[in-house]
Amino acid sequence: MLAALEQIQQQALEELHTLQDEDALQRWKVTHLGRNSPLMRTFDQLGALPKEERPLIGRRANEVKRALEEAFEARRQALQQAALQRSLQSERLDVTLPGRPIARGRLHPTNLTLRQIVRIFNEMGFQVYRSREVETDEYNFELLNIPAHHPARDLWDTFYTTTPGVLLRTHTSPGQIHVMRQYAPQPLRVVLPGMCYRYEQVSARKETQFNQVEGLAVGRNITFGDLKGTLSDFARRLFGPQVRTRFRASHFPFTEPSAEMDIECFLCGGWGCSVCAQSGWLEILGAGMVHPLVLRNGGYDPQRFSGFAFGLGPERITMLKYHVDDIRLFWNNDLRFLEQF
Ligand code: FA5
Repeated sequence: MLAALEQIQQQALEELHTLQDEDALQRWKVTHLGRNSPLMRTFDQLGALPKEERPLIGRRANEVKRALEEAFEARRQALQQAALQRSLQSERLDVTLPGRPIARGRLHPTNLTLRQIVRIFNEMGFQVYRSREVETDEYNFELLNIPAHHPARDLWDTFYTTTPGVLLRTHTSPGQIHVMRQYAPQPLRVVLPGMCYRYEQVSARKETQFNQVEGLAVGRNITFGDLKGTLSDFARRLFGPQVRTRFRASHFPFTEPSAEMDIECFLCGGWGCSVCAQSGWLEILGAGMVHPLVLRNGGYDPQRFSGFAFGLGPERITMLKYHVDDIRLFWNNDLRFLEQF
């Protein structure tokens, strides 16, 4: 029995030193230390031996087992070290090579303008209110005093969804109703930035998808003077103190009276050119005093409350600020354009 154990140990160790990879090591372990290995079967046979031989054979079997386990572990570590050395040699890194430069992103020009606009109104006490892009006909039109079949609907060519009465908002004005219904009867001063959609012919000045920033102030004794003062000050803060503005009478069903604000043409300085259609002025926003019906739809008593609202287009303002002559550049994803900002 002792001779058999010697034989087991010698053969196992000889085999072990010829192994070169982890798989072979595991197979060796099953063969020589596994439950059905000759060594383990020796333990099973101990009971059948004469009583006086058992301690000697048992001790020797345990010594062989420990010797094989230690040799296995040593061989495993040696193979791991060798593999590490090989990969360090073959996958050598040159840490002195210059790194790849990280491409730095930047804000889209419209977002630059949006942030500037929002910051100016924040300084005047207007808070940002987010409103949904998918709207109902009721909020986009009816509650803004534009009933079905009203001719004013022609101003807003609309993308309708397949769900009746659900559409992509054509302007940020429906947000006026949402915010008023949330806060009435408290006074409020908010700006509502966001994307709008119109089913119209794309041109140098018109896109089917564009941003607007709506503004709304509701309180007691708010007058048209407040509207003019706020918007003139806004234009000076955005375009510089020298900018000249003018208000023209206009019409929106949800404001009365209504106006549009122009700034002096950046290109010709007011003399008249092709960009400003020879007028010397460029329109930047629509505005007016909130119509009493709209105030009531928002939950305010028009006898006690008044308010002003406006809606401006950040893409058009970006065009004016940076002298961009085609709105389509904003969505072309042309880096030669975007990297200039
Ligand atoms: C409106 O949408 C009104 N809701 C604005 C308003 C709000 C008036 C509150 C009174 C009170 P208008 O259709 O003019 O108005 O659009 C306002 C601004 O959005 C325009 O001055 C322009 O800057 C921008 N805009 C409109 N259509 C487009 C378009 N197709 N592409 C890019 N910008 C556009």
